[in-house]
Amino acid sequence: MNIRPNVYVTRMLPEAAIDLLAAHCDVEVNPEDRVLERVELLEKVKGRDAVISLLTDTIDDEILVAAGPQCKIFANYAVGFNNIDLSAATKRGVVITNTPDVLTDATADLAWTLLFATARRVVEAEKFLRDGKYQGWGPMLLLGLDVTGKTLGIIGSGRIGSSFASKAKGFNMKVVYNDIAANPEFEAATGGVFTDKERLLQQADFVSLHVPLLPSTHHLMSDKEFSLMKKTAILINTSRGPVVDEKALARALKNGEIWGAGLDVFENEPAVDPDLLECANTVLLPHVASATIETRTNMGLIAVRNILNIFSGKPPITCVNPAVLQAE
Ligand SMILES: NC(=O)c1ccc[n+]([C@@H]2O[C@H](COP(=O)([O-])OP(=O)(O)OC[C@H]3O[C@@H](n4cnc5c(N)ncnc54)[C@H](O)[C@@H]3O)[C@@H](O)[C@H]2O)c1
Repeated sequence: MNIRPNVYVTRMLPEAAIDLLAAHCDVEVNPEDRVLERVELLEKVKGRDAVISLLTDTIDDEILVAAGPQCKIFANYAVGFNNIDLSAATKRGVVITNTPDVLTDATADLAWTLLFATARRVVEAEKFLRDGKYQGWGPMLLLGLDVTGKTLGIIGSGRIGSSFASKAKGFNMKVVYNDIAANPEFEAATGGVFTDKERLLQQADFVSLHVPLLPSTHHLMSDKEFSLMKKTAILINTSRGPVVDEKALARALKNGEIWGAGLDVFENEPAVDPDLLECANTVLLPHVASATIETRTNMGLIAVRNILNIFSGKPPITCVNPAVLQAE
């Protein structure tokens, strides 16, 4: 690399990633632990050769124009890239990359954490004890639901859906799944059976969402879908908030149409619908599915390597708009 590219990082990332970046580039990192305001982002990207953005940064044409025509890459620190206007980036010749694979297991593990925490009322039980209410073993105390031997419904059989479903073997579960097409690799890895969405919702004891946020997956779960689910079923969402119609979910929980929900993501983050907050039969987490020390470090390293590759004349590792590379 002959030049030292000028790179802006919109929020502090694990040290190993910043150190690697700083060894080869001139780097400025947002020093404050908060999402930049729109006006700040517009100002900060100006004149940069590359930007590391987060899922909380909206990267649209205006931001790309503000960055300037010299800007070669926005490396998004997430596998999802619904925060980026991909067609605008492609039109302007800006490479967009994401961080797949390295966060697959951490995200699937958190979906399992939510599944068990919801089914066994872990958060409620722990609070009960800490509140000093535990007076001794009780035959009817905090009864939850069995997991072993139940039916798991997966919507979205990609990387995370596959990892999540593979881990169900240990609990002797039947796996049914839905995707835009049957997925033989998923079936081989998990023993899952391709099922249309309606039947999946009727059969599954646990429905776990692993789709990207797209116009076609917006409100994939709404009133009709909840009405099809078993009254004893639990919804797990570690995908993106707007995949679930949050108002409809709160209604379904309150009316006893479904038993519970474990959610890592919300429609209008960081806001959580007050109706959902009122539901005891939910476990609500602040978007931490990939939040392990190892995973977040590896996400940072991939984002940085994508940038270093671009300025060394090599292809990026995880480009999501490869048409840009073909056009060069
Ligand atoms: N909560 C978190 O912190 C967190 C962490 C990682 C990923 N995610 C989310 O998880 C999503 C999935 O990640 P991945 O790596 O498994 O992606 P992936 O691309 O490997 O898998 C997505 C799957 O969804 C399927 N799909 C698309 N539209 C569908 C539809 N309408 N109905 C059914 N299936 C459909 C795709 O065909 C694909 O098989 C990401 O896009 C991201 O938004 C969230």
